[in-house]
Amino acid sequence: MVKMVAAMSRLGTESAFEVLARANALAAQGKDIINLGIGQPDFKTPPHIVEAAAKALRDGHHGYTPANGIPELREAVAADIAKWRGAEVDPANIMIVPGGKVTMFFAILMFGEPGTEIIYPNPGFPIYESVIKFSGATPVPMALREENGFSFSAEEVLAQITPKTRLLIVNSPANPTGGTVPREEMDKLAAGLEAHPDVAVMSDEIYGRMLYDGREHASLLNYESLRDRLIVLDGWSKTYAMTGWRMGYGVWPAALIEPATRLSINCHSCVNAAAQWAGIAALEGPQDAVDEMVTAFDARRRVIVRALNQIPGFRCIEPGGAFYAFPNVEGTGFTARELQDKLLNEAGVATIAGTSFGAQGEGYLRFSYANSTENIETAIERIRSVLS
Ligand SMILES: Cc1ncc(COP(=O)(O)O)c(C=O)c1O
Repeated sequence: MVKMVAAMSRLGTESAFEVLARANALAAQGKDIINLGIGQPDFKTPPHIVEAAAKALRDGHHGYTPANGIPELREAVAADIAKWRGAEVDPANIMIVPGGKVTMFFAILMFGEPGTEIIYPNPGFPIYESVIKFSGATPVPMALREENGFSFSAEEVLAQITPKTRLLIVNSPANPTGGTVPREEMDKLAAGLEAHPDVAVMSDEIYGRMLYDGREHASLLNYESLRDRLIVLDGWSKTYAMTGWRMGYGVWPAALIEPATRLSINCHSCVNAAAQWAGIAALEGPQDAVDEMVTAFDARRRVIVRALNQIPGFRCIEPGGAFYAFPNVEGTGFTARELQDKLLNEAGVATIAGTSFGAQGEGYLRFSYANSTENIETAIERIRSVLS
């Protein structure tokens, strides 16, 4: 009998992929399934980006690239950060990785070990808690509450820091809640962190371009006092509808870029060369497709929030960013998991139980509105009839 390491039993998963598999299996049996579970844009990658990858292949970009990414792409990322976040970053501190997830995996592995603590958002992207546990560190949940618009309280977060805290993870705009952290709260967090110079910070800003009602992205890159221990995670998946391309980047402080690159060399060597050239076209080319997608998400956001609030037992606040709504469903009398299963089996609507995003997600369901308005309206109608 083969014997795996104990850490494997602590490694979790991302239920979105399981729900997707179940939804696909039901669809294969001929059931009409509307998928509001999946966290990816329902748009295609803009054609000029696809063409840049095809051209790169035709031009012979078939070999390994530097482990941290081609210099042209890292320069394009630095220019993009200056444009959208108003922060100056040296291209030498940027590492291109196969998807946003890799930066979080490396950051957590770099700081987590038995005897240490890592603070992470809960409810939050499930991979944070999974990899923290895998590393042997103790996961310390940062509570994100509905009454706070699913933002955190900086005061509360700072009070959770102990001498064992190695890393603090923040995510705004957030998955699964669509919550955004206001700049004043980020100011307080950054100011408070000055008293904890040994705590590294990873800011997951992958939804930074998806904000509504005139909200502005409060990037932690704007705080000079954090720059020597700040890791910023971003990528192309959400902004440019490129989830399948596996393109992400991390901005690492000078002291961590070499160990981060070493992790890349040990893991994947480098990112697909053609995808990197496409990444340049995405950042430097026209941004109309991004604007159109965000405008469409905004319109659907209004539709879904209004409709969710009309389902008996549901209560949904307006998400400020990303493409998720996270209604409170306690009033239905079902647990989140029971309701997820009921809606999939009886209404043919895939959603994700809030508990897939941590224990604090009990009583909530995540709806992705990266689907057409027509499908969203049909799905909500079906849910209403199943629950009435
Ligand atoms: C908050 C958050 N961070 C990171 C990722 C990972 O993105 P990628 O598909 O680029 O690995 C996701 C994807 O759903 C996400 O929601």
